Amino acid sequence: MPAEPSSLNASVASVGVQSRAPVGIFDSGLGGLSVLRAVRAQLPDEALLYLADSLYAPYGERDDDFIADRTLAIGEWLVKQGAKALIVACNTATAQSIALVREKLPIPLVGVEPGIKPAALQSKTRVAGVLATQVTLRSARFQALLERYAADCRFLCQPGHGLVQAVERCDVGSPELRALLRDYVQPMLDAGADTLVLGCTHYPFLDAAIRDIVGDRLALIDTSVAIARQLERVLEQHGMRAAPQTAGAAPPRFCSTGDGAHLRQIVATLLQIDADVERVVIPSPRTAALSSQPA
Ligand code: DGL
Repeated sequence: MPAEPSSLNASVASVGVQSRAPVGIFDSGLGGLSVLRAVRAQLPDEALLYLADSLYAPYGERDDDFIADRTLAIGEWLVKQGAKALIVACNTATAQSIALVREKLPIPLVGVEPGIKPAALQSKTRVAGVLATQVTLRSARFQALLERYAADCRFLCQPGHGLVQAVERCDVGSPELRALLRDYVQPMLDAGADTLVLGCTHYPFLDAAIRDIVGDRLALIDTSVAIARQLERVLEQHGMRAAPQTAGAAPPRFCSTGDGAHLRQIVATLLQIDADVERVVIPSPRTAALSSQPA
């Protein structure tokens, strides 16, 4: 479920938004590519700029201030690169820092949040599992979402320790990963769940492995298509849609704060794009403090 769009802030006009400017999409690592894939399908004329903060992934085991620090620094970097709008394609960063970043950036933002609402609407047994990072699950934003929909539906919340790390290694089906997934979903099945919310943008890459374990006993809720539609509404609302082009937009630009090798590999497999990945340096107060610590 996408988070609420920002209202257009007066400074958007002053940055001279061009409809051909790219939409920035950011995640701690590779997970946001599941959102990028949906955005490309929904809005083929939009230029896209993807940033993976792989040097500092996973965010789900970081402290709140670190996540806010990185999200803001990356948002500012994307604005400097000319982004006209930003998808924070990371549940963890959205849960932790979207309100702060929305206040500070002069462009509209779309965040992501676990699909609690669609799960509550469609679960027949009224028991649903939620897999998300520890930071997302403990955030006030997620707790408020849960309270809104948990009146007549029981949500079994499971932190997905180790799953983001596996996807970052391009492991989407090793025996160790499958064993981990089984540990997480079996208790949900035992408790009668019929729905599983994939509350982290990395997890749609694990859908085949999850399917192998749960068969059709759990409906998987992935909100990437809803996020793409939300972006479309936000761009429309702000008069920022790219003009239709006969050949569609150029391939996305891919950037990483890490070496980019896994990003390149997953882009080739998932999107069938043979892309160069630019390695970029995005300093932020917390990472500057890290690098000045004695080894
Ligand atoms: N894709 C991010 C999310 O949706 C993963 C966070 C992490 O790096 O732990 O939460």
